[in-house]
Amino acid sequence: MAIASENRRGMWSSRWLFILAAAGSAVGIGNIWKFPYIAGENGGGAFVLIYLVCVGVVGIPIMITEVMIGREGRSSPIIAMRQLTQRARCSPAWVMIGWMGVLAGFLILSYYAVIAGWAMNYIWLSASGAFESATAQNVGATFDNFLANPWQLIFWQTLFMVLTIWIVGKGVSRGLETAIRWFMPLLFILLVILLGYSLNSGGFEQAFNFLFEIDASAFTDPEIWLLAMGQSFFTLSLGMGAMMAYGAYVPQDAGIGSTVLTIAVLDTSVAVAAGLAIFPIVFANGLDAAQGPGLMFVTVPLAFGQLPLGIIFGTLFFILVTFAALTSAISLTEPALAYLVEEYNAKRKRVAISLGVMCWILGLGTVFSFNLLADFSVVGDLTIFDFVDYVSQNILLPLGGLLIAVFGVWLVPKEVLVRQLGISGGFKLFVWRLVGGVIAPLGVLAIFINILWPLIQGVFS
Ligand code: PFF
Repeated sequence: MAIASENRRGMWSSRWLFILAAAGSAVGIGNIWKFPYIAGENGGGAFVLIYLVCVGVVGIPIMITEVMIGREGRSSPIIAMRQLTQRARCSPAWVMIGWMGVLAGFLILSYYAVIAGWAMNYIWLSASGAFESATAQNVGATFDNFLANPWQLIFWQTLFMVLTIWIVGKGVSRGLETAIRWFMPLLFILLVILLGYSLNSGGFEQAFNFLFEIDASAFTDPEIWLLAMGQSFFTLSLGMGAMMAYGAYVPQDAGIGSTVLTIAVLDTSVAVAAGLAIFPIVFANGLDAAQGPGLMFVTVPLAFGQLPLGIIFGTLFFILVTFAALTSAISLTEPALAYLVEEYNAKRKRVAISLGVMCWILGLGTVFSFNLLADFSVVGDLTIFDFVDYVSQNILLPLGGLLIAVFGVWLVPKEVLVRQLGISGGFKLFVWRLVGGVIAPLGVLAIFINILWPLIQGVFS
């Protein structure tokens, strides 16, 4: 059965290809757009440190668990969880992990395609010289006018979605592998070039201090912990089964621990490198580091527009962002897609198109959050986009990760740990249970409780 499903689903042709694919999923607009702006809005250094703690203590063990479950099940997250819950004789309710992942992937992709569409538009704008010698006002107005026009946003969202679905519809070896083989190395090369460019822009020292100097007051702010945790889940593509789905294609002889460590280091390096590429330009031009989502779409083009060869490097920058977004978007569809193909023997292409259309419709909520429905808030002052982003990144992913850690460490049959991780007992098992089964889930839980505590107190007072 395992072999039949291997044949049907295909395999990564090597461990390195899996690393590239998983890194392709992990590295995305979360690293290049979100990480710098969230760090910028939340004081820089302290946020970065908390984020690194979350990646190390919570992210890596959960990624190991996800890949382990995926490779053991050799099928989509929902089906892998179904098989494993039966084998472990525990409640079928655990399969909910798979369903929550499908929901989270769906929600994330709905807005991911919109933001990635902006990056695509900015390739075009940069290349056409729209930002050459432009003033801050001009660049700001270009972004505002773009956001105010739902038709333009829909156009680029649609283009990005069509590209994603086209690649995804082709299947693992033909679509994903080809895309990843080209995109990932190119992405790393582009980032190194940009970093070199920023290093010479004059603001490097300030940027370095901003990202690594620590303001201790942030450590006591539960909201910053939640943001950093959400960001670490989001950036590592954890908590929704994406890594489980990719893990299903991993050759049996690849070591999961070292593979996951490589992916986490690659992802974190890209986020930090993106910060180190963006902030020197920001500071060299006397711009605001804490301007939020506009950081990438206002500050960066403005800065490139003022620098020599800015057209070339600005264009390259947005090509890089679009590539990174594509390889992530592909993985966002994988849990749902693989499930529908396996469970109903459906045609991959057809399923991809149907999912794409539904996601596209949901994405209109994000599109309108920047124009027609900008004043509409779902709760508090959260627009539809903010709400979908908050729920998926800060609630669904960490919650999924928490359940995955508990299930994968404590409930999964012991032979799975032996086969997949080479852990049979003794000290190794102790460390694995301590880190993966206690520290990681307790970390997530502690952050949740810290956030919820004031609300709970409010209800009972
Ligand atoms: N990790 C991606 C990023 O940083 O942009 C986003 C993402 C992809 C999140 C896949 C979750 C996922 F399953």
